[in-house]
Amino acid sequence: MIFILLPTLLGVTLMLPRMQALTCQSGTLMSVVNASTLPLQWTAPEIECEDGWGCQDMLMVIENEPKALVVAIKGCTLEKDHDVRVTQHRTGPGLSIVSYTHVCREKLCNLLSTTLPVWTSSPSTGPESSVRCPVCLSTEGCESATELKCPVGHTHCYNGVLQLKGENILTNVRVQGCMPQAACDLLNQTQKIGPLSVRENCDSNAFLTCQQGIMLQTKPNLTEKPIQWNALRSVMCDLEEVCQETLLLIDVGPSSLIVGSKGCSSARTRDSQTVTIHSAPPGVLVASYAHFCSSSGCNKAQNSSVLLNSLPHPASPAPGDLQCPACVGFHGSCTTIVTCPNGTSHCYSGSMRFIGSKLSATVNIQGCVAHRSSSLLNRTNNIGDFNALENSGNENEPTIQGRAGAAPAPYLAWVVGLGLSLALWCGVPSLLAPFPHEP
Ligand SMILES: *[C@@H]1O[C@H](CO)[C@@H](O)[C@H](O)[C@H]1NC(C)=O
Ligand SMILES: *[C@@H]1O[C@H](CO)[C@@H](O)[C@H](O)[C@H]1NC(C)=O
Ligand SMILES: *[C@@H]1O[C@H](CO)[C@@H](O)[C@H](O)[C@H]1NC(C)=O
Ligand SMILES: *[C@@H]1O[C@H](CO)[C@@H](O)[C@H](O)[C@H]1NC(C)=O
Ligand SMILES: *[C@@H]1O[C@H](CO)[C@@H](O)[C@H](O)[C@H]1NC(C)=O
Ligand SMILES: *[C@@H]1O[C@H](CO)[C@@H](O)[C@H](O)[C@H]1NC(C)=O
Repeated sequence: MIFILLPTLLGVTLMLPRMQALTCQSGTLMSVVNASTLPLQWTAPEIECEDGWGCQDMLMVIENEPKALVVAIKGCTLEKDHDVRVTQHRTGPGLSIVSYTHVCREKLCNLLSTTLPVWTSSPSTGPESSVRCPVCLSTEGCESATELKCPVGHTHCYNGVLQLKGENILTNVRVQGCMPQAACDLLNQTQKIGPLSVRENCDSNAFLTCQQGIMLQTKPNLTEKPIQWNALRSVMCDLEEVCQETLLLIDVGPSSLIVGSKGCSSARTRDSQTVTIHSAPPGVLVASYAHFCSSSGCNKAQNSSVLLNSLPHPASPAPGDLQCPACVGFHGSCTTIVTCPNGTSHCYSGSMRFIGSKLSATVNIQGCVAHRSSSLLNRTNNIGDFNALENSGNENEPTIQGRAGAAPAPYLAWVVGLGLSLALWCGVPSLLAPFPHEP
């Protein structure tokens, strides 16, 4: 298996050419793989380090048949040079942990590109004891760990969480397996491996596992028809974090948009479930569902009914005598003109920016509203996982233009500079399990 390491942030900031600059390899890899796929190989891009900095290589392999965790960090460092250090923190059979660190100051001297010099296959078949333990190694929690027979002498079941931090890595890994003693000391006291800091916590209830994913749809009738909202994966949260699920629905009549986010949250709100109608019909509807809960897997709504069931469903109001462009989405020009319902008196034109833990998006909104200075969010900024910012700068006068010919001038501005960006902000750039993008 061949991986390509992702460039680290340092790689971006250290592009300035320098006379004395040292060229190093740079990148981060963190992946849970089948142990049978070891040894693993990777390639890494090069960067120029600043004067005085050196090149570093760091590798940690945790093997816990049938899985293995591989963490590799390369890049520039201010640490002093030291020869290759290989440390066997724990030897097999069963759980084994080995690490490799190296700091040097010669061109491209951090060339480690495989687990091979560090990792040696631990004997997987040896005498077995009668003790069975759940065995698991996962960043997504261990809801369905399989029980396996332990090697002789390994009579205790270990259950803990390793909190890994360093460079682009910020992740929690749950480890379950067989150990010779009942201790919370997987790494034999080690807390730092090169640039990687490792903390261990064996309070197995301290970390929640939550569903994680984003969902985004634009189509008509999302206020009427529930849509699926299943997360494709789970994630282990940090200490103190809870699970959250957030839905935001915007309906302007002919089109509607829904954004959903599930994941961990550091919000202090522990258990709450709220439906908020930020803007009610006639005209544009903006409503949200925000659920915070504190047990593993509790953010498990399967569809948008959790929000739709709490919405008002007024009979279609009689048409009024105003016409407005009515659109919601990520693209600029709005060519749909509607006759507004009775009770509305102005055309709204604005945008909303959402910033969530895994998603940031700017949505353009046009539609009919009841008041001239409408704020669709009604001055709310926090919507579950999202921080929302509304920009309703330019209310247009009612218009009946634009049905034929060129698009009216005010809408052209929307084409520029607005759009959707998906970001892996606090995720781990694991190449095996990219964060699902599901627009
Ligand atoms: C890992 O091994 C399991 C069975 O042990 C297999 O089902 C799965 O496809 C393997 N995954 C990869 C990525 O090789
Ligand atoms: C833990 O480290 C000490 C030295 O730091 C070593 O003597 C001991 O053998 C190690 N224990 C294990 C289980 O590897
Ligand atoms: C929206 O749903 C309503 C009622 O379910 C239906 O009458 C209408 O035709 C639908 N509109 C669209 C555009 O699908
Ligand atoms: C907007 O918020 C105010 C209080 O902050 C509330 O009285 C009003 O009903 C809200 N408007 C809508 C449309 O929800
Ligand atoms: C929506 O999800 C709920 C559980 O969250 C389920 O009971 C219901 O049947 C689902 N409805 C649809 C239409 O899928
Ligand atoms: C429109 O609403 C006003 C009150 O808001 C009402 O007096 C009028 O009869 C309504 N017109 C229609 C056509 O329903």
